[in-house]
Amino acid sequence: MNYIGSKHSLLGFITETITSVAGQVGGCDFADIFAGTGAVGSAFRAMGCRVVANDIQYYSYVLNRHLIENSASPDSGVFEYLNGLEGVDGFVYKNYCLGSGSGRSYFSDANGRRCDAVRQEIERMRPQLGEDVYFWTLASLINSIDKYANTASVYGAFLKKIKKAAAKDFCLEPLPLVEGERGKVYNENILELIKRVKGDILYLDPPYNDRQYCANYHVLETVARYDNPVLKGKTGLREYTAQKSEFCSLKTAASALEEIIRAADYKYVFLSYNNEGLLPLGVIEEIMKKYGRYEVFTTDYRRFKADADENRSHKADKTLEYLHCLIK
Ligand SMILES: C[S@@+](CC[C@H](N)C(=O)[O-])C[C@H]1O[C@@H](n2cnc3c(N)ncnc32)[C@H](O)[C@@H]1O
Repeated sequence: MNYIGSKHSLLGFITETITSVAGQVGGCDFADIFAGTGAVGSAFRAMGCRVVANDIQYYSYVLNRHLIENSASPDSGVFEYLNGLEGVDGFVYKNYCLGSGSGRSYFSDANGRRCDAVRQEIERMRPQLGEDVYFWTLASLINSIDKYANTASVYGAFLKKIKKAAAKDFCLEPLPLVEGERGKVYNENILELIKRVKGDILYLDPPYNDRQYCANYHVLETVARYDNPVLKGKTGLREYTAQKSEFCSLKTAASALEEIIRAADYKYVFLSYNNEGLLPLGVIEEIMKKYGRYEVFTTDYRRFKADADENRSHKADKTLEYLHCLIK
């Protein structure tokens, strides 16, 4: 999934750095508490860790509930069945597609109606699917429908004309199952959860600029919840005050980070951040150094597509990605 701050292409750097500091991770309790797409937690699950994952967004909970907790055996029959459904006029079509008169074009009419049909059927079948397969199909829907979004990259705005990728016929593709121990996934503000979890390795990947995930991925949140929210304005935002992140504001980011580091009951704490984030390198170093032995690792990284497209004030197309390390 094309996600702001996704660590998919940095997995080599992250796993190698963490194992070089903490040694063999197999059998460790590993926490990925700003989990997003689940890229990092699922890599560590596959490496033999018991993983705890968390995110404040419900679509992320759904993705991680599948990647980290699922141990169901594959049955592709259900995907075939869902892919054969006729489209229906549900919430997605009525609110995010042009044909319904919504004035919004996040999806083509046909794909919006197919998304509704699959979403409604997954809910109807929940008791017979069981929780593991329910979250597997729902996570696959979120991951798949994002590929047909008629946006430049995030859901802050839609394109007027349906672009080529969005015009293709929607296909629900099963997300892979991750082998490994069954972990545990939460959907909370980390400032609350951090008081109740403990383990060996804590991985932190907070937002690094002022772009709130709740506003940029509101359509995926609604597909995941399917809770008929009241939508506001031209872009159709749902209410998201409770999901606003402290890490998206310079006023609160440093104190929120310190609160987590202080409360963390983990031997190793790793923090991903880049050189264009709200918090300067020196501030992070100062906070982390107070709580133990500190070191920082770095690598070059290509800028996220949306940042390259929308924020033309950036001169470089590369950023420096840091992995701050604290041994408590
Ligand atoms: C940089 S992204 C993480 C990307 C992830 N590592 C990946 O590879 O996909 C930051 C994530 O933190 C979540 N988040 C922001 N503030 C949070 C908070 N206070 N508690 C829990 N999650 C939060 C956002 O919803 C977002 O998914």
